[in-house]
Amino acid sequence: MTIANPVDALFSDLERQFILNKKDLGPIVHGFREELKTGLTTPSTKLATMIPSFVTKLPTGNETGTFLSLDMGGTNLRISAVELKGHGEVEVLELKRVASKELKTGEGSVFFDWIADTMDELVHVKAKHLFNDDQLEGKEALALGICWSFPVHQVTVNRGTLLRMGKGFTLENAEGRDLSDMLHEAFERKGLNVRVSAILNDAVGTLVAHAYANPRARIGFIFATGVNASYPEKISSMQAKLDPEYYQSQDASTEMLLNTEIDIFGSESYLPLTTYDLALDEAHNQPKFQLYEKMMSGAYMGELTRLIALDFIKAGVLFEGVIPEGFEEAYSFPTMYMSALESDNTSNKEESFKILSKYQTVQAPTYSDISVLTRICKIVATRSAVLACASIAAMIEQQGLDTNEDKHDIVIGINGSTYEFYPYMAERVHYALRNWFGTETSDRIRMEIAKDGGSIGGALIAMLCNQ
Ligand code: BGC
Repeated sequence: MTIANPVDALFSDLERQFILNKKDLGPIVHGFREELKTGLTTPSTKLATMIPSFVTKLPTGNETGTFLSLDMGGTNLRISAVELKGHGEVEVLELKRVASKELKTGEGSVFFDWIADTMDELVHVKAKHLFNDDQLEGKEALALGICWSFPVHQVTVNRGTLLRMGKGFTLENAEGRDLSDMLHEAFERKGLNVRVSAILNDAVGTLVAHAYANPRARIGFIFATGVNASYPEKISSMQAKLDPEYYQSQDASTEMLLNTEIDIFGSESYLPLTTYDLALDEAHNQPKFQLYEKMMSGAYMGELTRLIALDFIKAGVLFEGVIPEGFEEAYSFPTMYMSALESDNTSNKEESFKILSKYQTVQAPTYSDISVLTRICKIVATRSAVLACASIAAMIEQQGLDTNEDKHDIVIGINGSTYEFYPYMAERVHYALRNWFGTETSDRIRMEIAKDGGSIGGALIAMLCNQ
């Protein structure tokens, strides 16, 4: 009789929970497709999915002019002056700021004043040469497109109320208020004549931006701190979500981009939640919210890895069974560290040891510690890739892109640090899509990076809606 080595036994248990093959993916893709359908017929006033964007036209690639954009992601604020040069070319002058914990959890007006200060610096210092005197003196309004990485209940292309925010944001006196109003008030306090001409969710912005580079794009996908997706849907399918007067004024066969908020999709009934997912959710300040996102996005992969590693430490197969100082703290192992461990192909594991030196250990970490931890990272990250594939597959199927006759490329504009910078992520997502669809269809799928999706998408829509 062979006695299983304890590390192998732990890994086989972990893999049993985390490896999702085609059979496991079925209920998830099916669940997502059902939620796409029910979301389309449910009004989006509260915590909502399938939010209409009011964007009914995509750029052609020939647009020109200079426009402002504001891209508020999970962590970074980017305020840019975007010069559209035609032929799909753009130049971006950008100011980037990081939102502190105080700003994210404080009074809404203070947060919006911080945005107005950054806007002032862009317009009057960094990009001053791009504007004329009337614009600089505030006599002529500047058009701004907003790319907002949080749910908003939109009522028109440039108005919408803030819904519940994720990513650690709990702004006071902001939820339920109109985003444009709050920004205009802050711009006025600062003496800036900037008018919001469009509000876009970042997933919609990514699709718009990518359509400038490749007009065949049919899905915008964000795989970053958070996750989300957008795609075009016939107005006739979203009647329940639109104001009757607006609906009557539109040609029902026109397509409008939808912000799916797929991050909120999923429930215990069909997501294969592990004990680690449940533990992460329970300790979160917004439990039961964004269950799918918590299983796979950049904000949570490091924490899942840490929770798993703690069990390996307890079993005595990692760090000599002693928790390194600092490692016991929630979120003390960021996804960036996983990325560094998985990228380290050197034989002396210099980068990996550097990462582990951030924690105080009783015994110096060993090659075996690095190998065990890296293997956990790989398991967590591979599941993220497969889960990303689940939402992409659901949207491809919803649009019938896999079964239509034309056999054109299926183009997806994708944006986000987890997809772009996590090693092997793109290959893992593609591998999962190949498993799901088979070679013939998956060979037509083009996952193209939509660079600066937020800024360019915001500026393009500011332009298209300002005409
Ligand atoms: C937000 C979405 C956003 C996504 C990607 C999610 O947490 O709810 O609105 O598009 O993150 O940034």
